Amino acid sequence: MDSLIIRVRTLVAFVCLNLSLVKADMPTLEAITAKLEGEKACCTALDFFLPKKVFTELHPAYSISQLSFWSAQEQRLNPACILIPESQEDVQLAVTVLNVGVKAEIASCKFSVRGAGNKAITFGPGDRWGRIFGTLDELSLAMVGGRVSTVGTAGLITGGGVSFFSGRKGFVADNIKSATLILANSTVVTASATSNSDLYRAIKGGTNNFGIITSFTADIFEQQKIWGGEIVKAFDPYTALITDLIWVSGIPTVTYQLAYTNGSTTIRKSYLSDFTREIAALAAVTEGMNNLLVTLTFVNKDEVSVNFMKEVYKLADKTVKSLLSVINLNFVMTFQPLPHALYTKGAENGNGANILGLERFDEDLFNLLFTLSWLLPLDNAKVEAAMKELEQKIKKLSQTMGVDNEFVYLNYAAGWQNPLASYGQENVNFIKSVAKKYDPSGLFQTGVPGGFKLSNL
Ligand SMILES: Cc1cc2nc3c(=O)[nH]c(=O)nc-3n(C[C@H](O)[C@H](O)[C@H](O)COP(=O)(O)OP(=O)(O)OC[C@H]3O[C@@H](n4cnc5c(N)ncnc54)[C@H](O)[C@@H]3O)c2cc1C
Ligand SMILES: *[C@@H]1O[C@H](CO)[C@@H](O)[C@H](O)[C@H]1NC(C)=O
Ligand SMILES: *[C@@H]1O[C@H](CO)[C@@H](O)[C@H](O)[C@H]1NC(C)=O
Repeated sequence: MDSLIIRVRTLVAFVCLNLSLVKADMPTLEAITAKLEGEKACCTALDFFLPKKVFTELHPAYSISQLSFWSAQEQRLNPACILIPESQEDVQLAVTVLNVGVKAEIASCKFSVRGAGNKAITFGPGDRWGRIFGTLDELSLAMVGGRVSTVGTAGLITGGGVSFFSGRKGFVADNIKSATLILANSTVVTASATSNSDLYRAIKGGTNNFGIITSFTADIFEQQKIWGGEIVKAFDPYTALITDLIWVSGIPTVTYQLAYTNGSTTIRKSYLSDFTREIAALAAVTEGMNNLLVTLTFVNKDEVSVNFMKEVYKLADKTVKSLLSVINLNFVMTFQPLPHALYTKGAENGNGANILGLERFDEDLFNLLFTLSWLLPLDNAKVEAAMKELEQKIKKLSQTMGVDNEFVYLNYAAGWQNPLASYGQENVNFIKSVAKKYDPSGLFQTGVPGGFKLSNL
């Protein structure tokens, strides 16, 4: 297993409860409870049972881990300690300790889980896409994964995941064959189409509500070098484009003939990992800054979409102008297609449906993403308020123009949005029932305050 990170919050209170869960090869519950009672702090107890794997503020591993967060808001959260487990057993033990602590209502036992560590051997939740693709590139193989080398796996997969290959193969989650999880009661389970299939479906979009994922198995396929690159310019007099619609024996085909007369684009044939690094270099300006993502989904209607996008542009432009005082504001508006053919691939590939609920639609959709970053925390409230207002205005506009769709893509959603609710009532009920079955005591609801919670459904 690759390293993943568990962050534990600061001690506030301590109450002792009697629990009745005992595991043979683990310290007894009595020992754990006694330790927690004696030390009155989760971090000390974790450190006792998992020596040399728990780091506090004074240790360099702590700051390295903190700085590995993309957003300044997360970097500033300052947990009381950070646990970097080295095996599945470590995670089991940690969950046991945390579970005892959370049940005893020790506020300091609230925790969060994240991937994206930096030590990687197999495809684990701590891996990042750049390393996975680099390994696969050498074998002329690829998997459906993220598009930016520096992004982690577990969050992207459990939120759905949009890939360069999604047009052919659907969401990243649709191409996961199985996952291993540590449940709230520290049991290890495999989730796949044939084992705990309800849990398997739920993690394909249901994010961190069920357990801690310790490994993934994914479909891989042959892939030679791909073609791509970028041109970063408003209007560029060096670009030339011929768009042909050619009927070949009656079958329509689209052909683009591209030319660039100056020679400074990066368009080329290269490895997948190379392109994901290129985008990471562009995205790096937002790393470590205060970040905000906001997303909406619309129906693509030929006769309306272009005018709708023009209106969205005007609204966004107004918002940017209202935020001119925000220092180093980087404001990006991205449209991405989400056609019916893409979002229904998952149900077709033998791995079974995901939980996003998009099958209930039959139109081609498209996604709008705003990615903002800025320098100073004192601007956070101003930026958030402006974006909430923009979101509402665009929502209203889309309703008026008849292109509204209720789906909210979790991996792009702001904290105030409710992506899980957008999966449809049937799927909401399903997610709740799966969480209840695999985490009956609600450890991942009460013990993990972060992420999109079932209590908001
Ligand atoms: C620069 C950039 C590029 C991006 N590009 C894409 C893209 O191409 N396609 C796309 O779909 N999205 C993209 N995203 C969005 C991305 O999917 C989300 O930010 C996602 O949360 C990243 O996952 P992570 O594992 O790195 O994050 P983390 O912060 O580690 O985790 C995110 C969530 O997953 C949970 N989680 C983490 N590890 C585990 C685990 N082991 N078990 C259970 N739960 C866990 C966490 O608790 C948290 O709720 C991009 C984001 C950025 C900043
Ligand atoms: C090519 O583009 C670059 C960057 O925009 C510019 O500096 C350069 O003058 C251009 N070259 C020619 C021959 O126009
Ligand atoms: C752990 O929880 C799962 C899901 O609720 C349950 O099936 C299993 O029996 C539990 N195992 C133990 C040892 O309590």
